[in-house]
Amino acid sequence: MAKREHWGSKFGFVLAASGSAIGLGNIWKFPYIAGENGGAAFIFVYLICIAIVGLPVMIAEILMGRTTQRNPVGAFRKLSGSKFWTAIGGLGILAGFIILSFYAVIAGWSTGYMIEALRGTFSTLGTAEQASSHFNSLVGDPTWMIGFYTIFFVFTMAVVYLGVKDGIEKGSKIMMPILFVILIILMIKGISLKGSGEGLVFLWKPDWSKINGQSVLIALGHAFFTLSLGMGALMTYGSYLNKKTNIPTAALQIVFLDTLIAIMAGVAIFTAVFATGQDPAGGPGLIFNTLTVVFGSMTGGYIFGVLFFVLLTVAALTSAISLLEVVVAYFVDEKGWSRHRAVLVLGLLVFIFGIPSALSFNLLAEVTYNDMTFFDIVDFIASNVLLPFGGLLISIFVAWIWGFDKALIKLKDGAENIFRDRPLLISTFKVFLKYIAPVMIFIVFLNSISLLESAIEQVKNYWIILVLVIVILGIILSRNRMKK
Ligand code: PHE
Repeated sequence: MAKREHWGSKFGFVLAASGSAIGLGNIWKFPYIAGENGGAAFIFVYLICIAIVGLPVMIAEILMGRTTQRNPVGAFRKLSGSKFWTAIGGLGILAGFIILSFYAVIAGWSTGYMIEALRGTFSTLGTAEQASSHFNSLVGDPTWMIGFYTIFFVFTMAVVYLGVKDGIEKGSKIMMPILFVILIILMIKGISLKGSGEGLVFLWKPDWSKINGQSVLIALGHAFFTLSLGMGALMTYGSYLNKKTNIPTAALQIVFLDTLIAIMAGVAIFTAVFATGQDPAGGPGLIFNTLTVVFGSMTGGYIFGVLFFVLLTVAALTSAISLLEVVVAYFVDEKGWSRHRAVLVLGLLVFIFGIPSALSFNLLAEVTYNDMTFFDIVDFIASNVLLPFGGLLISIFVAWIWGFDKALIKLKDGAENIFRDRPLLISTFKVFLKYIAPVMIFIVFLNSISLLESAIEQVKNYWIILVLVIVILGIILSRNRMKK
């Protein structure tokens, strides 16, 4: 068997993993779901989810990958030897398959808008109405939709076909800083617009009445989605790490970068949304309808428009690659396929599966179930069911099945200095991974299938969760102390 590839450096890993994490989730999805679910209040819940669930699960996932040097299925099998857990790894592969199918549709919009920017279309879009009718006419055109969906897909397959390691690691090192700089410029531009203050108020002033079981589930689902967690993408990337890497600090850096980019995108977009008098709950078309107006009116807007959509597309590409890589790695590792064959066969299958999603905005727009199009349904199932479910099982697996203490020994490799003489840090991490993350995901789940709905409706449920978290933390910490 060929020797397993490894990242060139920890920095390279952090950037590649950030490349997977930072994508459409941050720049396209986060602003519009925050807009639909109450702005600041939603962001607050989301940040809690990131800190107390996302970070521990991320560490667990990377650790499983590094320890086993395997894809998700192989990783679960090697650590447990059980069929059940191996199948859970398989669920991750399935999630990767499904997510890529609708992810590439939105990435197709971004690719198409790159061309719109190059053609100078934005300068003709003076108002929000013009921008959104232009958006609707493009997305409503099946040829445009399928065309750019295909182009993006071919790019994704091509990179994975050629082998991603050098491409991703090197590409991330160049593209990520540029993305950052452009976002800063757009943020400044947004804030300087007349009437942008309302956007900032929307971002920082919480409206708690918008928070309910559904929005907490969406926040948690998005925490997983934006951090690429719950389906083995970071496990796969972690499997290319060596023992010297400090996993906790790497995870912190990835989480920090991902959150920073999302907040920056939020500022850039909501200032523009309010300044141009648009609806913050504008749905999936939000950035396409708002930023284009800003580009159309600003000096140098042509260049910034082009750059923005190039970078959005590249950000989407580094994420899409990691999704396809999970599926491909499984077939290469476990089924003995060549990389080329896996990319061609699976790429084609995912592509076909994604076509109804691409048509959900035009030909199939009226075909709905519970008011949800095919696109909405696969997005909901993958982001709000499969990913949290995967995260739940990963945290349970590492903390209870593999065993926290055994996992900790592995985690200490490369991170000795962090854990040395810090029993409180260790027990806190233990409590989070063993109890808080699973319990919290579980509650949100129960709520989502409305078992707890009526009970929770009476009290704002994030308070219940917060109180629960504090109580559990207290009990466990005191128990750990007593043991010593
Ligand atoms: N994290 C990516 C984003 O925010 C999406 C993604 C999800 C990538 C899951 C890989 C795995 O756009």
